[in-house]
Amino acid sequence: MDYQDLLDVVHQEVRPHIGKGRVADYIPALARVPAERFGLCLHLLDGREYGVGDVDEAFSIQSVSKVFALVLALGALGEQIWQRVGREPSGNPFNSLVQLEYEHGIPRNPFINAGALVITDWLLGLHADPSAELVAWLRRESASARVAIDAEVAASERAHGDRNAALAHFMKSCGNLQAPVERVLQTYFDHCAIRMSCRELARAGALLANHGRSPITGESWLTRSQAKQIAALMLTCGTYDAAGDFAFRVGLPGKSGVGGGILAVIPQRMSLCVWSPGLDPRGNSLAGVEALERFTTLSGISIF
Ligand code: DON
Repeated sequence: MDYQDLLDVVHQEVRPHIGKGRVADYIPALARVPAERFGLCLHLLDGREYGVGDVDEAFSIQSVSKVFALVLALGALGEQIWQRVGREPSGNPFNSLVQLEYEHGIPRNPFINAGALVITDWLLGLHADPSAELVAWLRRESASARVAIDAEVAASERAHGDRNAALAHFMKSCGNLQAPVERVLQTYFDHCAIRMSCRELARAGALLANHGRSPITGESWLTRSQAKQIAALMLTCGTYDAAGDFAFRVGLPGKSGVGGGILAVIPQRMSLCVWSPGLDPRGNSLAGVEALERFTTLSGISIF
């Protein structure tokens, strides 16, 4: 298959959608990103890379960081993490509060904000500085020294993070956070504020397509079974209350962020990252989902 030709066709077909949707503005520092950006990068497990558009422009990875935090927590701690966070889709927006009270402070899954706060808390039990740890890991796994936390975005998240603070305080009251709430929140905001490009994200995500072993560094971070588990969670929970529609249209495990990035994996073949900042009403990149849908439809490759 000529992947470059395919990406060129996808790019051409999604052009009318680029710039559509709404750039996230609930965090003021994110609102300034031009809506017309678009990048799509594939990283094949044999090392070949193909890209179109703004593949090397760094953007705020936001909730895509939740996948990598989960890789580090599950890889290091194993099964025990599921005592404090579930594995079911929530069917609610990513920052919803309502389910958490009914379910006694145990979040539905690690990809909604409450679940990611619990994973962050696990990481705080493992590392003195989980943000530095995650950034260093991402630099190695993406073979790029420029991966970094955007301090302005992190501060803006903090200043507008009342809803996340509510989730964290509630879980603390249920005994489901060990570290001080402020530490958990700051670390979570730092993770969301990491900046990376499509190329860097596709590389860092390649281990998920490769049974948990990074084709970049050769290191194994997950067992084969854990890599399957994370891909399953991406499929069922990675795009929040749009996960059913994403599976229907795209047919791949994917994880989105409100910065407009989506990381997707095709087990045993490749990882892909698309970025376009205009979001649909459920917080997923509008042109990004369109592009992934065309990619799987035109190539005939999906997990189904
Ligand atoms: O917790 C928040 O509000 C954000 N910093 C991360 C949200 C996010 O990306 C959810 N995604 N789609």
